Amino acid sequence: MTTQTKKRIGILVSGGGTNLQALIDAAGRGELESGTISVVVSSKPGAFALERAKKAGIEGVCVDRKAFSDRATFEEALSGVLRQRDIDVLVLAGFMLVLSDQFIRQYPDRIVNVHPALIPSFCGDGFYGLHVHERALEYGVKVTGATVHFVNEVTDGGAIILQKAVEIPEGIDAEALQQKVMVEAEHILLPQAVELLCAGRLERVGRRVIIH
Ligand code: GAR
Repeated sequence: MTTQTKKRIGILVSGGGTNLQALIDAAGRGELESGTISVVVSSKPGAFALERAKKAGIEGVCVDRKAFSDRATFEEALSGVLRQRDIDVLVLAGFMLVLSDQFIRQYPDRIVNVHPALIPSFCGDGFYGLHVHERALEYGVKVTGATVHFVNEVTDGGAIILQKAVEIPEGIDAEALQQKVMVEAEHILLPQAVELLCAGRLERVGRRVIIH
């Protein structure tokens, strides 16, 4: 696929950026051939993800949520950054904010999120980052995993694209479980899903996503 027909990918981050790194590494291996990572936008200044972008030669921009009095003005600034760069596809890779319906409508079926659990378990408002794994351990489930899904107006409620299960070993703590889920599931699924989306191989029919 030529650069001209490649989808322009914007990646939204808030923290460490290991999922961003997985996308950068996949691109380096030629596994993201239908898209090009055009910009990384962080909602937090000093996020390590921005360092990862810089090291990979990708433009990094910070749109600091705390610099805006409300979500609407923050999203206006974010939309401006994305529009200026002609972004086709958005990837939420450890992005810790919930986007408004109005924002999401700008990218119908073109925003994906990675969530560190098997949706519909351990998801929705308040389930993010390490909390998700703490809640899974508290509940005592034996299997967890990761989900990549389309983003719609319901937090973690969009149609599921890919999922992968991860077994929970006896005695593991939340931090170790988070690592295990990232390495065994998130970092594998996210690049696969982004490539499928950029290649036009995902068809959403209601809640179901058909992979062509
Ligand atoms: C990842 O586990 C990601 O799935 C999760 O936060 C972590 C970010 O890590 N995202 C959410 O919980 C969003 N609801 P990373 O910055 O190293 O990719």
